[in-house]
Amino acid sequence: MPRILITGSSGQIGTNLFHHLSNIGGYSVIGVDKRPNNWEADLETHLVDLTDAERSESFARQHLDDVDLVVHLAAYAKVFELVEHPERALENITMTFRALELCRARKIPIIFGSSREVYGDIERIITGESDADFVIAESPYSASKISGEALTDSYARCYGLHYLTFRFSNVYGRFDNDLERMTRVMPLFIDKISKGEEVTVFGKDKVLDFTYVDDCVSGIGLAIDSLLSSKVTNQTFNLARGEGSTLVELAEGIADELGKPLKMNTRPSRPGEVTHYIANIGKARSLLKYDPKVSLREGIRRTVAWWRESGLL
Ligand SMILES: NC(=O)c1ccc[n+]([C@@H]2O[C@H](COP(=O)([O-])OP(=O)(O)OC[C@H]3O[C@@H](n4cnc5c(N)ncnc54)[C@H](O)[C@@H]3O)[C@@H](O)[C@H]2O)c1
Repeated sequence: MPRILITGSSGQIGTNLFHHLSNIGGYSVIGVDKRPNNWEADLETHLVDLTDAERSESFARQHLDDVDLVVHLAAYAKVFELVEHPERALENITMTFRALELCRARKIPIIFGSSREVYGDIERIITGESDADFVIAESPYSASKISGEALTDSYARCYGLHYLTFRFSNVYGRFDNDLERMTRVMPLFIDKISKGEEVTVFGKDKVLDFTYVDDCVSGIGLAIDSLLSSKVTNQTFNLARGEGSTLVELAEGIADELGKPLKMNTRPSRPGEVTHYIANIGKARSLLKYDPKVSLREGIRRTVAWWRESGLL
């Protein structure tokens, strides 16, 4: 049974990925994170700060010998937070370096969780993978993901490492309500609208590609199989829904689902934020057979249902 290590396993995508791999079966999974996992008690989670070289090495010596593949998700994942704390971008790069080193030493493949932020804020209706222009880094977060992608690719060239890189885009859904740690737009809007509070939309014309988390983790699952069987290696993919929606549409959909009136004000986009992105997901469709199923409206319905079931509303 292939053994998968998820870094950043207590986070939104990591927790959902564990959930997905457990549901489909056939894998054993361990996680590493600097925080405990609040949702999945069954996930074997090792508490290690991956910026700490000594602790990371000691963890790897004890637990990595039978690992077949690493899904590297650990990062500071919020764009505007890194505009305010740029030193955290450097930590992101260090974590990726550490994950790559663990893989290099053991000759195991890696899936790297990158971001659509590598494209910068270039107005395009459809963005294909080859449109990335690494001269443009819109924010320190974007720079940290560009560095991570470049490092990963360099390890393939210099050390024969096998990898797949995913550029995720606004992933939302269950296991994402921790507003004190990380204020992502979907949980923030659900929280505020449910309490009858006003929401602020930064960028009323902003168009983003929202990805329901089950689609995201099913894509990662397909990549795990492809990489373990060496069917697809050393490729970079957009992983998204492939459709654009405005933040106003998002807020309206949430208010509708909650059955609450929408109180909204709009302000200009903040520095470092992408204002227009719709992914071209043709490459993931054709090479990985990725097939996202959940529209934004249906995703909002499922997300609000999860908040209700979890007693958060
Ligand atoms: N969710 C999205 O919309 C989205 C979009 C684009 C890219 N991504 C990328 O996907 C990955 C996963 O995102 P997520 O949404 O699950 O984020 P998340 O913040 O929910 O999870 C990231 C996890 O990394 C952990 N982490 C941070 N620093 C660490 C360290 N020094 N050592 C060990 N663990 C550490 C955090 O504790 C957290 O649990 C991230 O790399 C993120 O940048 C996410």
